[in-house]
Amino acid sequence: MGAEKKWLFTLFIAALLSLLLLLLLTSLSSFSSPKPFPSIIHHGAHYPPAFAYYIYGGRGDADRILRLLLAVYHPRNRYLLHLVAEASDDERNRLAASVKAVPAIEAFGNVDVMGKPDRLTYMGSSNIATTLRAAAILLRMDGGWNWFVTLSALDYPLLTQDDLSHVFSSVGRGLNFIDHTSELGWKESQRVQPIVVDPAIYLARRSQIFHATEKRKTPDAFKVFTGSPWVVLSRPFLEFCVLGWDNLPRTLLMYFTNVVLSQEGYFHTVICNSPEFMNTTVNSDLRYMIWDNPPKMEPHFLNISDFDQMVQSGAAFARQFHRDDPVLNMVDERILMRGHNRAAPGAWCSGRQSWLMDPCSQWGDVNVFKPGPQAKKFEESMTSLLDDLNSQSDQCK
Ligand SMILES: *[C@@H]1O[C@H](CO)[C@@H](O)[C@H](O)[C@H]1NC(C)=O
Ligand SMILES: *[C@@H]1O[C@H](CO)[C@@H](O)[C@H](O)[C@H]1NC(C)=O
Repeated sequence: MGAEKKWLFTLFIAALLSLLLLLLLTSLSSFSSPKPFPSIIHHGAHYPPAFAYYIYGGRGDADRILRLLLAVYHPRNRYLLHLVAEASDDERNRLAASVKAVPAIEAFGNVDVMGKPDRLTYMGSSNIATTLRAAAILLRMDGGWNWFVTLSALDYPLLTQDDLSHVFSSVGRGLNFIDHTSELGWKESQRVQPIVVDPAIYLARRSQIFHATEKRKTPDAFKVFTGSPWVVLSRPFLEFCVLGWDNLPRTLLMYFTNVVLSQEGYFHTVICNSPEFMNTTVNSDLRYMIWDNPPKMEPHFLNISDFDQMVQSGAAFARQFHRDDPVLNMVDERILMRGHNRAAPGAWCSGRQSWLMDPCSQWGDVNVFKPGPQAKKFEESMTSLLDDLNSQSDQCK
């Protein structure tokens, strides 16, 4: 072949290959989404923040977890679902299958179901082990998220993900939302001094925590903090806890192994004893709960009588709810605009809304947000929290 012919041949092959590639891309994307080109996700300082959700539940909670997932779903976030060991593999597989059947989740691939479940003991330290494990998995799987949010199957959001990302766009990404205090009160003798053992750490069968006969002194090598187990923690703080280059998160983990309800103290004590993180605490768990006075072990189950007060509260999430309580339908209809078995719509959904068609089965740019009326309420409560932060009146005290 002459030089010119060779060149023509190369050109012809290149054109053919590009054509094939174009055809392949078109058919691939029309297979996974009805839009010709899938949306590109942008993370980073110049883009809105993203969240990593850890949602867990027990036996029989698969449907509630799916409902909660759809209520907090957004393509830019990451989700880890955990049905703890008492649930069957069958239920776990069913949850994974129903998650994959949602077109957007299938296309964006941002939801995982934990395959090797953990055993949790009520009030035992296995709860902390599992939360740290979830954080470790989410840190490793996705470099794009900014905050880690813990939810249980009994929780529900009070705003859309567009609302949440919009309000968090003006929040410093190092801040941690954790309800805490060092005023231990009755907890000093009931929670801090007793020594308990969680058998789930070393026994194969299901069991309960048990108490040692001895009590121990209140620690003086560090100050104990306690508060709500429900947290919204920043990525840098979780890296500090999980990677462990400083020994404090590790030694406190060892201490809290034998503390009742360690999930009400571990992160609180680590963060308030770390000079580099104590100034990043915002003293709120961003949840709406109603407690008895004096408080019982769990808050009230919320129902439709609580709806107005709940949405006026300016909280991001609420707990706890009975399975399919009518008040959840009210949240779906009035706040999330969410149809049955569909993801809560956001600005990313580009399909037409009708009872036949899920608007989120088609999508446009997933990096834009359209906050709704609930964003205002949440923004007000965030503003007052950040004012407290500036005065440092309520931090690690
Ligand atoms: C945290 O705030 C206190 C009080 O304003 C200040 O003295 C300290 O230097 C701050 N720590 C860090 C690491 O910024
Ligand atoms: C809601 O719960 C409260 C107690 O928590 C109860 O007094 C009230 O009757 C309940 N309302 C409905 C509509 O079930």
